[in-house]
Amino acid sequence: MSAYLLGQSIDEQERLMMQARILRPYTESFFRQADLNHGMSVLDVGSGVGDVALLAADIVGSRGRVLGLDRDDVSLEHAQRRVIEQGCSSWVSFQTTPLDSFETDQQFDAIVGRYVMLYQPDPAATLRHFTRFLKPGGIVVFHEVDFTCPVLTSPKCDFVDQVLWLVPEVFRRANIPPDFGRYLPQLFLDSNLPWPHLAAEIPVGCGPGSPLHSWIASTVQTIAPRLSSLGIEIPQGVMIDDTLASKLEAACVEARSLLTASIQYGAWARKPASLKATS
Ligand SMILES: C[S@@+](CC[C@H](N)C(=O)[O-])C[C@H]1O[C@@H](n2cnc3c(N)ncnc32)[C@H](O)[C@@H]1O
Repeated sequence: MSAYLLGQSIDEQERLMMQARILRPYTESFFRQADLNHGMSVLDVGSGVGDVALLAADIVGSRGRVLGLDRDDVSLEHAQRRVIEQGCSSWVSFQTTPLDSFETDQQFDAIVGRYVMLYQPDPAATLRHFTRFLKPGGIVVFHEVDFTCPVLTSPKCDFVDQVLWLVPEVFRRANIPPDFGRYLPQLFLDSNLPWPHLAAEIPVGCGPGSPLHSWIASTVQTIAPRLSSLGIEIPQGVMIDDTLASKLEAACVEARSLLTASIQYGAWARKPASLKATS
C-alpha cells in the first residue's frame, strides 16, 4: 500500500496539527539528541502541513535552510502559509514530489522525518535514496511510532480500550506495520547506515482536559471510513462521531484511569564517510 492511509482531507490536516502539538516535545528531543543545530541545511521527508519543517526551522534558525517534501500539494500550500505566518519563509521552502522520485544536486546536513517511513512500500530503499543527498557525517533522524502498546488504560477501562484497539487493527489490515517504530534499527542497517542511537517516550494522560482524548478520537474518526472495507466491525456501544472525545474522557474519568498512548521512537545516526554520495 503506497497511498497515505489517513487521507488528505481538511480534517486530516487539522488532526495532524493537533497531533503535532502533542508530539513536538518528543520530536524536538530526538532532533536535539541527534545534534541538529543552528545553521544546518535540513531535508524534511513527508512534511504534511509542515509541523516538522517548522520545528527544524526553529532549531536551525535563519542562517540554516529547510526543504520539506510531500506529494500532497494541498497540504504543502497550507504548510507554506504557516511558514509565512511564522516569519520563516526566507529559510523554509517546500516541494511537491513523491519521495522516491525526488532528485537534487544539493547536499544536506540532515535528513529528518516523522510518521512517514511506515507508509513506504520499501522504507530502506526510500532511505537509501535520501542518503544520496546527505553530506558525509550528516545526520539521519526519524521519529516513528508503535501503536501496539499492550497496556492502554490503568485501571482498565473497556470502552476506551475497545476504541484504541481500532487504530493498530486498521494499520495491520492495510498492511502498514502498526509497530514500525520498533524496527528503526533494522531500517538504518538495511539503508547502509550504522546502528542508530535510540530513545523512546510514551505520552500518558489522565483526568478532564487531557489532550489524549481528542487526539485518539480524531484519529479514530479519520480511519472510520476505512473500517468496513478492511472487514473491521465497530465494537458494540461505540459510536464514531463528534461526541467520541467527550465519551472517551467521561469513561476515563469515571474509571479514574491513566491513559497510555502509543510509544514514540526516535532513531538517529551519522552517514559514514565511506558511504559515497551516490550510494
Ligand atoms: C502522517 S503524515 C506526517 C506529516 C508530518 N511529518 C508530521 O509529523 O506532522 C505523513 C505525510 O507523508 C506524506 N507521504 C507519505 N508517503 C509519501 C511518499 N511516498 N511521497 C511523498 N509524500 C509521502 C503524506 O502525504 C503525508 O502528508
